Amino acid sequence: MAITAIKGFNDILPEESGRWQHIEQAARRVFELNGFAEIRVPVMEKTELFSRSIGDATDIVEKEMYTFTDKGDNSVTLRPEGTAGVMRAFIEHKLYAQDPVAKLYYMGPMFRYERPQKGRYRQFHQIGAEITGVHDPLADAQVLTMLVSFFREIGLTEPVLQINSLGCPDCRPAYREALLAFLEGRLEHLCEDCRRRFTTNPLRTLDCKVPRCVEATAGAPSVLEHLCGGCGEHFAAVQGYLESIGTPYTINPRMVRGLDYYTRTTFEMVTGLLGSQSAVAAGGRYDGLISQLGGPAIPGIGFAMGVERVALLLGEQDFSSRPDLFIATMGAGERAFAFRLMQELLGLGVRVELDYEGKSLKSQMRRADKLGARYSVVVGGNEAASGRAFFKRMEDGIQIEVPLAADDIAKLFL
Ligand code: HAM
Repeated sequence: MAITAIKGFNDILPEESGRWQHIEQAARRVFELNGFAEIRVPVMEKTELFSRSIGDATDIVEKEMYTFTDKGDNSVTLRPEGTAGVMRAFIEHKLYAQDPVAKLYYMGPMFRYERPQKGRYRQFHQIGAEITGVHDPLADAQVLTMLVSFFREIGLTEPVLQINSLGCPDCRPAYREALLAFLEGRLEHLCEDCRRRFTTNPLRTLDCKVPRCVEATAGAPSVLEHLCGGCGEHFAAVQGYLESIGTPYTINPRMVRGLDYYTRTTFEMVTGLLGSQSAVAAGGRYDGLISQLGGPAIPGIGFAMGVERVALLLGEQDFSSRPDLFIATMGAGERAFAFRLMQELLGLGVRVELDYEGKSLKSQMRRADKLGARYSVVVGGNEAASGRAFFKRMEDGIQIEVPLAADDIAKLFL
């Protein structure tokens, strides 16, 4: 029996890879315009990095990590997200030594053992960006606006931006207490997971999709009403900056994130088009993470988008590349001639395809059609001898006579 891929691990086939490249190139363009530089970090890290940053009581660390012991008896984990590894590298290489403000972006596969469904996979891909070293809410506004402009750049009006603030270690404990007091009387209405979360991670009950939990927590106290002075001012300033430049957003006080490192601003780009996988991108501020990982007390903020989800939103648009010209040949001699011509045209940047195997003219023309070539030309004995041939524009069948010389042919495509 043929071997298949692991469940939840996908192949990106050629018909789809054009869409992925479109997304990746737009991200590079927008991020680099904003002064971000790419960082590439390993896909596997010491397990401790993720338990210390994402948090022991999160679903990711509790249930979803691909963790195993390697041959040297070390516990290692395939990265479930990008921020922890990027911050580990930031600290390890002292990227802050000259300037604590670093603007970094990354792209690549992440791994979570979740139940696969549309938009949710076990190997998935993120494109993320992080700014370190800025306490000012300007950094929040810059990151959010860059994310929104990325979606504009690729031509999507969905998803939309939702923001919230989760406060800081000064004000969150009081909110936690208020939430616990509220939940205590409703415990029997909560699902089993949420009853467990009540003791481990009560904020996550606000995020539960089970209908009875949504109902039971409907009147829960709002985190925004418990922010301390500093966090309240920060959140108001973020909104002020966003409004000053017309970046659209809504406030969602029930947004809690599945990772523990967040402080103050959190956000998601949300869509109604992907069923329950509504977050296309997400992120937030993590002012305590770098010091928690053994680095200096430098703040940070960033986001990551799920490339599979962005690709789904782009739908059926065709991003595959088509050849400019298909050269059909009548015999072995012409094939050798066409092969030389092809190399010269490739050198001039013209995308050329030809028949490699001496197939019938009919089947060569079928292939030209299938590949979506813009022009085709038939090179037989006459054409090779006269040095001229008719180039057929495939969309309307119009024929143009052109010398069989690379420079002349290339002019068709300028
Ligand atoms: P996250 O919310 O866990 O945040 O993931 C970010 C995005 O990755 C999600 O919004 C979603 O689009 C995509 N994603 C997550 N899990 C899956 C999955 N199983 N299948 C497909 N797509 C998925 C983080 O990972 C943070 N590191 C974001 C961040 C960066 N915060 C600050 N900086």
